[in-house]
Amino acid sequence: MRSHPLALVFSFLIAFILGLSSPGTALPQPKPKGPGQPPPPPRPPGQGTGGPGPQATLAQLGKQIFFDRSLSNPAGTACASCHAPATGFTFPSSNTNAQIGTAPGAAPGRFGNRKPSTISYASFSPKGPTFNPALKVYFGGQFWDGRAPDLVAQVPGPLFNVNEMNNVLHNLPAPELVVQNIAKGGYATLFKQVFGANVFALPPAQVIPLVAQAVATWETTAEVSSFSSKYDMARNGQAQLNASELNGLRLVTGSTTGRPGGPPFKNAQCGICHGIPADPRTGPDLWTFFGFANIGVPRNPRNPFYIQTNAATNPLGFNAQGANFVDYGLGGVLYPAQKLPAGNTGVGSNGLGDFLAINGLFKTPTLRNVDKRPSPAFVKAYFHNGGFKSLEQVVRFYNTRNLTSKAGEVIDFTLANPYAGLVGQPIWPPPEVLPALTLQNPTGQAGKIGNLGLTLQEEADIVAFLRTLTDQR
Ligand code: HEC
Ligand code: HEC
Repeated sequence: MRSHPLALVFSFLIAFILGLSSPGTALPQPKPKGPGQPPPPPRPPGQGTGGPGPQATLAQLGKQIFFDRSLSNPAGTACASCHAPATGFTFPSSNTNAQIGTAPGAAPGRFGNRKPSTISYASFSPKGPTFNPALKVYFGGQFWDGRAPDLVAQVPGPLFNVNEMNNVLHNLPAPELVVQNIAKGGYATLFKQVFGANVFALPPAQVIPLVAQAVATWETTAEVSSFSSKYDMARNGQAQLNASELNGLRLVTGSTTGRPGGPPFKNAQCGICHGIPADPRTGPDLWTFFGFANIGVPRNPRNPFYIQTNAATNPLGFNAQGANFVDYGLGGVLYPAQKLPAGNTGVGSNGLGDFLAINGLFKTPTLRNVDKRPSPAFVKAYFHNGGFKSLEQVVRFYNTRNLTSKAGEVIDFTLANPYAGLVGQPIWPPPEVLPALTLQNPTGQAGKIGNLGLTLQEEADIVAFLRTLTDQR
């Protein structure tokens, strides 16, 4: 059996945590750089360009485009309609998040098959997805499955996606629709100022990359990734975490100092994937390494994509597989890139199955702003399919994924039929995609993902810590 893709990261981190000791301090302190961690992603150009100058003008233009509701077909859906600042740049309807979990597009009746990712801190994701052979982990890219290498490449995605902004005519992307509306918009003058007086005379297909450049530049500013959370304040000595938040931070990092490398603390393992650098001088605390993993998220039965099957009324947005649709994540990107079907199963597959061990892998999202919401009662949806509805539920899932209603019984996902012979009821529905190979701790070993052994208070402390990651501006 091949080694677990994240086993190496894990063992490096554990070795590093055990190998160092330093006096306990309430807040993260600089530490020597540890081995084994993925290199901190390079700061993308433009990050923090708040001052005047051409970059700032370009960013302001990008912001206007991002909030422009006229850029969809029919009009009404802006980028910000699915990525609203008040919800940490995710979907702004509590009701939709609670009932559905994915987002309606501009065309009536059409929904995307995934939950809108936050765009905050997305600018730090390295170009991807790239395979790190030493760690055996894929990193980076944009979207849950990394299919766009970077932010500039990402922008045309929603503009021409029939389930999103739907700028499509005769079944083909129609850049002229987007460019016409920009030329009519309130910021057309700014657009010409930035890209030249004759920019609207260019073929529309040549204007889209300029649009993308502007939007991506804004997405890279401090306005989108402000590092202004209570956690950041506490790091800078301007705020104090309360006892519950601090305990959560220690559990998430498995370190008494709240930063990998300190004296070991009970470890909820989150930092393997949602990590911060051991040495804060090497890069910002992003609460993700942008690595890919399958943590066993069940399908979201309320995903409307499953019933988007009417080819007559919905020729472009339809899902030919209906309820049999499986979201293979990275396996839906890298196999088709080799002219194989998504997941490399079924007709057209080469018979090797999931030979890259990439089915069900999704990019680890940042934990920053996961709790950002306009009011405490507002519901946010979590995970790639939006099937989870609260942070409490997410943490409970990590704590108990491999458990059943019978105390002490553990589901072993490496068995041919993990559910055969169970005495208790599994606590959670089965993973949407189950290659046990890539499931963190598939056998349900105690103290690891799926069977963390956290008390209810410890679960609550982790949630309290996650709430400190909400940006204040
Ligand atoms: C109808 C809802 C919708 C609209 C409109 C929309 N998005 Fe998204 N966005 C999503 C969803 C859903 C995802 C995740 C899709 C996936 O992973 O396949 C996403 C993902 C992203 C990501 C990836 C972030 C990451 O960390 O991987 C970026 C960046 C982004 N959108 C920017 C934009 C921009 C720019 C626009 C406007 C041009 C836009 N979106 C319009 C729903 C939307
Ligand atoms: C093995 C890597 C890994 C570990 C360990 C891990 N996560 Fe995750 N996390 C992920 C991935 C991958 C996703 C996206 C999964 C998906 O949607 O299918 C995710 C998603 C999340 C989300 C949802 C974010 C959103 O925008 O929807 C939260 C919250 C979260 N994790 C918190 C935690 C906490 C708390 C822990 C520790 C108890 C933890 N994670 C441990 C990889 C990991």
